[in-house]
Amino acid sequence: MKSCNIIKGLILFVFANVFTIVPCSSRNVPVKKDFKIIKAQYQQMAEKNTDVNCVPRTINKEGKPICTDIEDWTSGFFAGSLWYIYDYTKSGKWRAEAEKRTVALEPLRNFTGHHDIGFMVYCSFGNGYRLTGNPQYKEIIADAANSLATRFDPRVGLIRSWDNIHLRDSEYLVIIDNMMNLELLFEAAKITGNNHLYDIAVSHADKTLKHHYRPDFSSYHLVDYDSITGEPRRKMTVQGLADSSAWSRGQAWGLYGFTICYRETKDKRYLDQAVNIADFILNHPNLPEDKVMYWDFDAPGIPNEERDVSATTIAASGLLELSKYVSPDDRKRFFSAAEEMLVSLSGPDYLAKKGENGNFILKKSVGSRRHNSEVGVPLNYADYYFLEALIRYDRY
Ligand code: GLY
Repeated sequence: MKSCNIIKGLILFVFANVFTIVPCSSRNVPVKKDFKIIKAQYQQMAEKNTDVNCVPRTINKEGKPICTDIEDWTSGFFAGSLWYIYDYTKSGKWRAEAEKRTVALEPLRNFTGHHDIGFMVYCSFGNGYRLTGNPQYKEIIADAANSLATRFDPRVGLIRSWDNIHLRDSEYLVIIDNMMNLELLFEAAKITGNNHLYDIAVSHADKTLKHHYRPDFSSYHLVDYDSITGEPRRKMTVQGLADSSAWSRGQAWGLYGFTICYRETKDKRYLDQAVNIADFILNHPNLPEDKVMYWDFDAPGIPNEERDVSATTIAASGLLELSKYVSPDDRKRFFSAAEEMLVSLSGPDYLAKKGENGNFILKKSVGSRRHNSEVGVPLNYADYYFLEALIRYDRY
C-alpha cells in the first residue's frame, strides 16, 4: 500500500513537472492549414519564376514579383524556404526545387562584398546540408565562412558589415543584423575544425554585446567603429525611425542572434542578453495586442503605423528556440508569445490567399520605412522565418 502511494506520488510529481515544462497541451497554430496555402503559393512561385538567377524578393505596386540577383542579401531565402517545405513534406518534388535554387548560389562561396554571405549561404546550403548531408554543400559552407572571415579585422574585433561607401565619413560599419551571420561561422567551425571561425564569431558577439545595446536592452541599428582602435565613433540608424529608436527588425535580429550564440557556446551572458531582448520586446507598451510588431517601437503614429511582419516572424522563431534554454516560467512565457504571434500571422490580416500577394505567404512587411522602400509588402525573409517558426512549433 505504502509503495503504491509512493509510486502514485512519483507519477503525480512527474506529471506536474511535465506540465510546467511543456508549456502547451493544446496547440493553437493551424500548421497543417498554413502549409496548404504555403505549398500552393510556393508551387506557383516556382513555376512563374523559372530563372534561378533571379530570386523572388517582394512585389511591385501591380502585385508582380520583383526578383533580385544572387549577390543581394536576400538571395538565400527562397531556396531556404523551399528546403523548409521539403523538411515538412519530405516530398522529392520540393527537394529537387530546393536543390536547383541552392546550386544556383554556388558562386557565393567566394563572395566578400558584404557581411550577408551568412544569410545567403546558411539559409540555402546550410539547410540543404542539414537535410541531405550533401558533402559538396559542406565544402561550400566552409568556403563561404572563410570568405566572411576576410571581413574580420582583429584590431576592431568585429566583422565589417558594409564597406564605407554606404555612409559618408564612416570608418568601420557594423549593423545589429550581423549577429545572424555568425551562425555560418559556428557551423563551419564545427564541420572543418577551424577554431579561428569560432573565435571570430565570439569576438563579434562580445563587442556587439558591449557596444550595440542601451541600458533598456534595445539595440542601435548601426555602430561606426574607429578602424584602428576599435572604439565606437557613433551610434545611429539606417532603417529605423531615429538613432535613438528601437527599429523592430533590429531587435528581432539581436534576439535570434544571441540565442544562436548561446546555443553554440553555452555562454550564459548571451542567454541573459537574449532573454533581456525578448523582455524588451514582449513588455513594450507599443507591442500590439496581436503581437505583430510595428516597424519601429518608437514610430510616432502608433497605432496608425505599418506593422512589420518580418520582424515578427524572426522574433517568433527566435523565441521558440530561446524558450528551450530558460526556466520553466520563461519557457511558458516565450512559447506562448511565439504562439500568439504565429496565430495572428495565420489569420486573414497577414496570411495571403491562394494566388494573391505575388504568391508570397505573408503580407505586410516593411523593408525600410525611412526610405519609403518596400512598405506594407511581402518579403521573402518574412516567409522564410515564418516557415522555420512553424516547423519549430510543430516539432516542439
Ligand atoms: N538585413 C537587412 C534588413 O534587415 O533589412
